[in-house]
Amino acid sequence: MEHKGFSDSLWIFVSLAVLMPHTTNGDVSYSIPEEMEHGSVLGNIAKDLGIDSGTLSARKARIDAAGNKRYCEINLKTGELTVNERIDREELCSEKPLCTLKFELVLERPLALHRFTLQIQDINDNSPSFPKDVVRLEIRESADKGARFRVNEAHDTDIGQNAVQSYSLQRNEYFTVSVSSHASGRKNVELVLDKELDREKQEEVTVILTASDGGSPPRSGTVAIHVTVLDANDNAPVFNQDIYEATLAENAPVDTVVLTVTATDADEGPNGQVTYEFSRLSNKARRAFSLDSFTGEIKVIGPIDFEEDSKFEILVEGKDGFGLSSDTKVVINIADMNDNSPVIYLKSLNNPIPENAPPGTEVGIINIQDVDSDKNGQVRCHIEDNAPFQLIQSITNYYSLVTTAELDREVLSDYNITVIATDEGSPSLSASKVLQFSVADVNDNSPVFERQSYSAYVNENNKPGSSIGLVAARDPDWRQNGTVLYSLLPGEINGFPVSSLVSVNGDTGVIHAVRSFDYEQFKSFKIHVMARDNGSPPLNSNVTVHVLLSDVNDNLPQILYPTPDGNTFMTEMVPKAIQANSLVSKVIAVDADSGQNAWLSYHIVKSTDPGLFIIGVHNGEIRTQRDISESDVMKQTLVVSVRDNGLPPLSATCTVNLLISDNLAEVPELKDMTSSDGSSKLTTYLIIALVSVSTFFLTFIIITIAVKVCQRRKPTMLFDGALAIPSAYLPPNYADVDGTGTLRSTYNYDAYLTTGSRTSDFKFARSYNDGTLPADMTLKKSLSIDHDSLIDSIDLAQVG
Ligand SMILES: *[C@@H]1O[C@H](CO)[C@@H](O)[C@H](O)[C@H]1NC(C)=O
Ligand SMILES: *[C@@H]1O[C@H](CO)[C@@H](O)[C@H](O)[C@H]1NC(C)=O
Ligand SMILES: *[C@@H]1O[C@H](CO)[C@@H](O)[C@H](O)[C@H]1NC(C)=O
Repeated sequence: MEHKGFSDSLWIFVSLAVLMPHTTNGDVSYSIPEEMEHGSVLGNIAKDLGIDSGTLSARKARIDAAGNKRYCEINLKTGELTVNERIDREELCSEKPLCTLKFELVLERPLALHRFTLQIQDINDNSPSFPKDVVRLEIRESADKGARFRVNEAHDTDIGQNAVQSYSLQRNEYFTVSVSSHASGRKNVELVLDKELDREKQEEVTVILTASDGGSPPRSGTVAIHVTVLDANDNAPVFNQDIYEATLAENAPVDTVVLTVTATDADEGPNGQVTYEFSRLSNKARRAFSLDSFTGEIKVIGPIDFEEDSKFEILVEGKDGFGLSSDTKVVINIADMNDNSPVIYLKSLNNPIPENAPPGTEVGIINIQDVDSDKNGQVRCHIEDNAPFQLIQSITNYYSLVTTAELDREVLSDYNITVIATDEGSPSLSASKVLQFSVADVNDNSPVFERQSYSAYVNENNKPGSSIGLVAARDPDWRQNGTVLYSLLPGEINGFPVSSLVSVNGDTGVIHAVRSFDYEQFKSFKIHVMARDNGSPPLNSNVTVHVLLSDVNDNLPQILYPTPDGNTFMTEMVPKAIQANSLVSKVIAVDADSGQNAWLSYHIVKSTDPGLFIIGVHNGEIRTQRDISESDVMKQTLVVSVRDNGLPPLSATCTVNLLISDNLAEVPELKDMTSSDGSSKLTTYLIIALVSVSTFFLTFIIITIAVKVCQRRKPTMLFDGALAIPSAYLPPNYADVDGTGTLRSTYNYDAYLTTGSRTSDFKFARSYNDGTLPADMTLKKSLSIDHDSLIDSIDLAQVG
């Protein structure tokens, strides 16, 4: 198989290749004989075009031809072109010397188009044939030697050497054959009379004329020529034109007169009567035209289609009554009408298109065909819809559909594009085709949270595992590219890993508390939740969730003073002279909760004398409500409830003991109330210290006196002054030593022990005479002052 690439259309191809260089890479032509067997290999087109034959299948290689016959196929494994249907040159091209079939090899991914042609070579598969099997000639016996008698030539549908090349006449007594070329290129075949005829000797002569073609082996056809020898001679008809030519519009209706041929015969009578008949015409012409044998009028009898045949060449024979004839050529040119709409063929469509395809991506290849010629077949093509696509013309009648912008599946996922093709005939015809394709998803959207940030409110003491909030993110991508998974970003809160506090449901975005929270430990904290899609690679975004704990009233008010536990005992002294609205004591309490839950209020729930004391609802201050009267009970007990403002409120109670007295001595029974406990140790030590000091002092005096008595032996010197010794420190009978009577045993000191935890609760009540001390001083003495007072009182006793 020889390659005959690069025809004169090469330059057209090259100039078009600039427009679309990647779709056409070369032009390959195969020259093949007609009538090859089905499956015969014409050549390896993949190799000739430089395409890797291994990719043919993946690239959906296929062959497209203009018509609907598939003359050849491509073997997707080997890249070979094979014959698929009978290729008959005579049917395809009849007498055209060059018979070319055009094909396109279309490949996808990337789209590519390669044109190739098959040059169909003639083989000698047709024999010459004469219009008729028998030719009848009538020749007068008077005809001279050398006279010529025309015979219709033979015809061979093959061309070139395979067409008729020579004529030969069966050897006979009277005739030879002479062939000369006509001005129009036709052959003129004539019998030449070689020996004069004698009717009396032989009335009829039959010779066989053979036409041979130049094929190898040659083929031939014959005609029998019957010559009847007549008494007289006449003239053959003569056409008044050598060639008749007419132009007929295609689709001309039946009975349209195309033209009329006229031949005249010089003879008169029947000898001059000319009849007409077709001497040679194609089968197509036979179906399209009729010839009136008397008038020579050629009329339309069938459909005339320019696209099928643009020109008819017919031979018409004119014959007189004696059979003498001549012929003429009738050429009927068919004029094109715009009777064919363009046809849009979708040669390739990349569907779906990925949404990130850059602008200019080729989406499809469209071929537009209009079988009309010239303007009627020139087609313009455009896209109707306002879509981001355009058509770019590549090779003649081929358009590539390219994107003009990046597509976004999330905005529009399907496109219906209407391609409209209009020819330039007048009136013009048009066609449209809707191309449907969809946009394939690419993971180009991160999940987006519906809010900038989230807050989750949770009450403390929540149940572990309870849900405390919800985050939601949207991802408009398709399927797994838009499937959102939630997770917690790792982190630490006050040293705790976030995951030990909360968890997030990967599918639903519900946030759960992992454990019970304590508002007193965290008031709020921040976590970060990530939303990730399932694409590859995945995209993600994150959001902050503020977890805000709210306080629950879970802490009782705690009373700091007075201590509420029953083991200790505390009494406040209230002087009898106290006036109304004086502060006598204060309940101090705190609450670990916050806000309302820690807003404390104080109430007296039980009291010895309900009218006597009131408590400040908010400050816990206990005040007298009225002046104290003599009739009031000395020992007053208040039960105070401290309540917070939570829902429900929590409360604690304490007991406040009050003693209405100016003098502790008045209430000796109170001593019974004293109970020993750890906090009174200090007091005990003080007593011990005082007793020690006093004992030491007494011992010192006694020793001093004893020494003096022993030294001076002066009995009057026991006491030279009034020496008062507190009776309490003396042996019981030691009091009135000298009978001065000045020392009364009324002095005592009274360590009146209180049991409060604070040192201020310690009170040392010193002895005093009525009216010598302001009433409220009792409550205000510090320890040191009390100690001084003790010394004072000893001095006082000495003085007294
Ligand atoms: C495209 O055409 C099809 C069928 O006619 C129709 O179902 C679809 O909705 C159309 N799409 C658009 C985007 O117009
Ligand atoms: C998701 O996106 C990727 C590219 O990012 C793409 O290859 C894949 O086909 C997409 N998946 C779906 C279901 O569309
Ligand atoms: C969370 O998102 C912010 C911005 O939105 C980004 O800067 C940061 O890197 C993200 N963090 C993680 C862990 O992905």
